[in-house]
Amino acid sequence: MVDVILGLQWGDEGKGKIVDYFAPRYDVIARFQGGPNAGHTLYVNDQKIVLHQIPSGIFHENTVNLIGNGVVLDPVTLKRECESVKSFGIDYRKNLYIAQRAHIILPTHRALDKASELSKGNEKIGSTLKGIGPAYMDKTGRNGLRVGDLLDKSFTTQYIRLRLKHQKLLDGLHFQEDVSAWEEEFFEALEFMRQFKIVPGEYFINDKISQGQTVLAEGAQGSMLDVDFGTFPFVTSSNTISAGVCTGLGIAPQKIRDVIGVTKAYCTRVGSGPFPTELSDETGDRIRKAGAEFGATTGRPRRCGWIDLVALRYACMLNGVTNLVMTKADVLDDFEKLEVCCKYQIDGKETAEVPFQMLQHSIKPILSSFAGWKSDITAIRSYGELPGPMRAYISFIDKYLKVKVSYISNGPGRNQLIENI
Ligand code: GDP
Ligand code: IMO
Ligand code: MG
Repeated sequence: MVDVILGLQWGDEGKGKIVDYFAPRYDVIARFQGGPNAGHTLYVNDQKIVLHQIPSGIFHENTVNLIGNGVVLDPVTLKRECESVKSFGIDYRKNLYIAQRAHIILPTHRALDKASELSKGNEKIGSTLKGIGPAYMDKTGRNGLRVGDLLDKSFTTQYIRLRLKHQKLLDGLHFQEDVSAWEEEFFEALEFMRQFKIVPGEYFINDKISQGQTVLAEGAQGSMLDVDFGTFPFVTSSNTISAGVCTGLGIAPQKIRDVIGVTKAYCTRVGSGPFPTELSDETGDRIRKAGAEFGATTGRPRRCGWIDLVALRYACMLNGVTNLVMTKADVLDDFEKLEVCCKYQIDGKETAEVPFQMLQHSIKPILSSFAGWKSDITAIRSYGELPGPMRAYISFIDKYLKVKVSYISNGPGRNQLIENI
């Protein structure tokens, strides 16, 4: 049996914290897509750590962690992450497994990512520049190198061949970067990676399921960044929605039970692209400050706005969300008035659906107002103790989405999660 935790907005919903909270209930935690573009923040013994590729179950002694085949893996980032996990006294080698079919991000993928962004002029995606897009392009273009290839004698030859191809592409884009400066670190990290348990992930996970073990699939990014259904082209290069769990781990759809969707009590986006409820004013600045909304991977300020129920309902539909987790509710503690987007107005017409192309139209969000609760909720531990206006806000959201908000997160700490089940 597999449950899924994934983001419903534009990423950074607090997935890492929520996976860490639920991890003790599962035998295996598995990442199924994305790569070092992700930044999942956890607090362990009140100390902060940001994970990029290692699943957020690594801090639980009895939990097995799998980096699935759907992930594009950067060995250099992996080595750094392992070192920081080790500084918490965790023996990462014990419980970390890597699927042999996961693709490797090469130094030239990072250079190609930069070159691609530069070539876009004013239409930049705002990529994290971690090489994600080029690595997935080499996967679908049938050129990429996989983790399992590391064990093959011909790996270096294959690497050199691909590097030459990349160099031609970089030359074509008139892009110069001294990639050789990154290569020493890359080859060291490859050696480091060889010590891991490199497994046929699809058999590994299906065997666990057959033995009655429970699996939690951990999403990266968010549904509005999905390559098929997000705000294309301002998206990432993988399927971030629940369908990606099947291809990213090698499991059948019937094996999926609960899909737990994570949303903030408001909305953020980092990088460019449409964001209908964005607040480019003092209110947006207040949310950014109260929520410390700066990227966990790049440190960039996140764009902030009100919760967008049109986009959220779309995400619930695409993922088959069974339960919602609302994070960062405490960030709204000081606001007198909150707004919620229930419809879009596009070219004078109202709609409750996400359009094909958000940019071509100027979308005006139609907002409903709610009274703020104006009190500190960070120490509250039960639903009944939450202030009335907050329960009204939550109840409106779960009625609109027809999915229950089963958990409310009221702070970054491990114990700051209120159940409403
Ligand atoms: P992820 O990528 O979805 O795992 O989210 P990030 O780690 O990028 O960003 C979420 C940020 O919000 C992190 O700094 C978390 O520590 C923090 N966070 C998570 N839940 C809460 C919450 O309920 N309240 C507050 N104030 N911060 C939270
Ligand atoms: P987590 O897992 C927020 C955004 C980038 C950019 C676009 C494409 O922490 O929620 P890419 O590097 O994939 O080429 O960037 O996607 N992006 C994220 N935004 N959280 C993330 O991950 C993201 N991963 C990518 O900012 O707009
Ligand atoms: Mg993040």
